[in-house]
Amino acid sequence: MVGSGGREHALVQALARDPEVTSLVCAPGNAGTVELAEARALDATDPVAVVALATELGTDLVVIGPEAPLVAGVADALRDKGFAVFGPSAQAARIEGSKAYAKEVMLAAGVPTAAAMVFDDDNDCAAYLAGATPPYVVKADGLAAGKGVHVGLDLPTAVDFARDALRTLGGRVVVEAFLDGPELSLFALSDGTGVVPLIPAQDFKRAYDGDEGPNTGGMGAYTPLPWLPVDAVEDITARILQPVIDEMAARGTPFVGLLFAGLAMTSSGPSVIEFNCRFGDPETQAVLSLLETPLASVLHACATGRLGALPPLQWRAGSAVTVVVAAEGYPDGPVTGDEVVVGALPDGVSVQHAGTALVGGRVVSSGGRVLAVTAVAADLATARERAYQGVAAVTLRGAHSRSDVALRAVRGEVAVGG
Ligand code: AMP
Ligand code: GLY
Repeated sequence: MVGSGGREHALVQALARDPEVTSLVCAPGNAGTVELAEARALDATDPVAVVALATELGTDLVVIGPEAPLVAGVADALRDKGFAVFGPSAQAARIEGSKAYAKEVMLAAGVPTAAAMVFDDDNDCAAYLAGATPPYVVKADGLAAGKGVHVGLDLPTAVDFARDALRTLGGRVVVEAFLDGPELSLFALSDGTGVVPLIPAQDFKRAYDGDEGPNTGGMGAYTPLPWLPVDAVEDITARILQPVIDEMAARGTPFVGLLFAGLAMTSSGPSVIEFNCRFGDPETQAVLSLLETPLASVLHACATGRLGALPPLQWRAGSAVTVVVAAEGYPDGPVTGDEVVVGALPDGVSVQHAGTALVGGRVVSSGGRVLAVTAVAADLATARERAYQGVAAVTLRGAHSRSDVALRAVRGEVAVGG
């Protein structure tokens, strides 16, 4: 397992439950992954270093968690040496790494997505925005760690954002039509040809309750989605996921790994907001906690082109809710180096470490999202209550969490197309 966040800890927990896994290494890992997987120092974005570690370990399967190593070509370097890899090539990872490329693939595949214009000149972009209908959606092209998107009603702010993005975040911006409707995250496994969706989840991207405050990597998640029409996942698979996988294969850049569709359920159907080339964080913590099928066999089948031979995935009945515990100051300027203590947890509750490190035998915060608390229960309301009981068992000076993760879904207040 390559990576060190909460997503990787959730993947390690699921891989460790697989009876076929005899040995597990998570590099570089964190203070949580070391309980289940040997930690090794690693620059995850250095293909030479990752190949050297995989060779030393004689690993049967390499799972790459974050997008940066994928975009840097780590999966290609491993495949060149004959390793089975769960994670796309650098070419295929551009589905996340370049918003303009993602739009091009979607257009060719006939996939519903917001209409978009690409600009490399700030005056052209400002003129276009002046004639567009608010809310304005402006995105920097390229990876920007969640800081590359502006959605707002004010024209001068949108124009300023576009100017800044052109200057500091790379040479291109994308201006999109605004998509109205609740968002969902749908993860799909692919071996380059076939596609198998996981259960849909919803993420809470803003830092504070009521979707206020700055964007973050994600402050919480729940799965499945009681408000989603029963045939929606099948429909999205047929109209969006499979056509994208087919289009990428036809271009000679097959997608092997986890295709993550960020979608809006608009009144005229699902529409793609973005694709990512890896599992989402913290949705993975919730989704994998309900997966009963042993994970390593599934990821290995993707890596070796045998997804079609797998029996259907088995899921636990019930719901899962994940709440992120973030450091003081996250996301603007997180404070690190504080001791983290996890007390007794209720039944069905687990913790996934994200920004933690072991210092002198103590667990201390080392990143903005410090850990996630995930609860599994028979229904969403109970899972939500247990998750917050779990959050209350975490001691970290200055920590903050959203208190409304899954609340509107429990209350029946989420509706498609509004
Ligand atoms: P992205 O980085 O593309 O996922 O965008 C971050 C967030 O901005 C999304 O989760 C949405 O909440 C919002 N967003 C992005 N694009 C659109 C759009 N076309 N319409 C409405 N909201 C959007
Ligand atoms: N939680 C959304 C993401 O991982 O990008």
